[in-house]
Amino acid sequence: MTRTPAFAAGKSQSAAITAEFVMTDADFRQIADMLHADAGIHVPPGKAALVYSRLAKRLRALGLESFRDYCHLVTSQSGASERQQMLAALTTNVTRFFREPHHFEHLRRHVLPPLAESARRGGRVRVWSAACSNGAEPYSIALTILSVLPDAASLDIKILATDIDPNMIAEGDAGIYSDAAMQPVAADLRLRWFTASRGAEGKSWAAGDALRTLVAFRELNLVGQWPMRGKFDAIFCRNVVIYFEDDTQARLWSRFAPQLQPGGRLYIGHSERVSGPAAAVFETEGITTYRLKQKDRGK
Ligand SMILES: C[S@@+](CC[C@H](N)C(=O)[O-])C[C@H]1O[C@@H](n2cnc3c(N)ncnc32)[C@H](O)[C@@H]1O
Repeated sequence: MTRTPAFAAGKSQSAAITAEFVMTDADFRQIADMLHADAGIHVPPGKAALVYSRLAKRLRALGLESFRDYCHLVTSQSGASERQQMLAALTTNVTRFFREPHHFEHLRRHVLPPLAESARRGGRVRVWSAACSNGAEPYSIALTILSVLPDAASLDIKILATDIDPNMIAEGDAGIYSDAAMQPVAADLRLRWFTASRGAEGKSWAAGDALRTLVAFRELNLVGQWPMRGKFDAIFCRNVVIYFEDDTQARLWSRFAPQLQPGGRLYIGHSERVSGPAAAVFETEGITTYRLKQKDRGK
């Protein structure tokens, strides 16, 4: 039987947890340090119970007896793939179609009209969904583009969808969503650009060819190297920097600026703000919507 994690009696206001598995302060700190080093994510000691519950299933699956053993595994040479599983288990992947809908409305009304004109004349249009989770965000961008330009898939238009979590990239690539997940998608868009089917788990929707052509999924760590060379017309980086410390956030905003075309847009999460030196090169253009100032365009 699985016991509920509890703070170990007699320990400091600590991360030490005794339950099905023992997780000591040192184990927690080691895991938190790895997450910080690998993904830039800051996990305060108050989140020890969350770390425990997310990783307990990994220990169970591997037949390990303690977090000490798990730490040994993920720091060993043979534990590289488990370390990636650990990262995946510890990241929060909450997302949904058309989350924070004002961004898609802004994109449709203010950004896409000139880009659509340019694309029709053979121009190149690029959007980056950075930290795309299971694909709901980049497909929402693609649906917004298709609502303005139904033939977008035959033009030079691409959405790059990246995430650190390979499981999320695989889900986005598969492009299959439950009926419940599809509820925020307007019925006309759903019927036109997805194919419905019914299986053992109920009704689901598969992204059609146009959506799949528009969106390319790739694994990418936002605090690592970025291989992209061309610039983007818009970047969505929403609800991920909240997990980073202030200086990591500031560095990230500064790295986005040279990735944008002059006047390019940056959409960020509802509780996030562009901070650090980059704040001077962006101007706000609505709720959590930023525009790169023309004179500060990246080289
Ligand atoms: C809460 S979801 C947000 C998804 C989407 N942007 C949205 O707003 O609905 C955060 C995503 O960030 C990803 N993530 C966390 N750290 C990352 C990093 N260092 N590099 C890239 N992606 C990261 C997680 O895997 C997760 O899918």
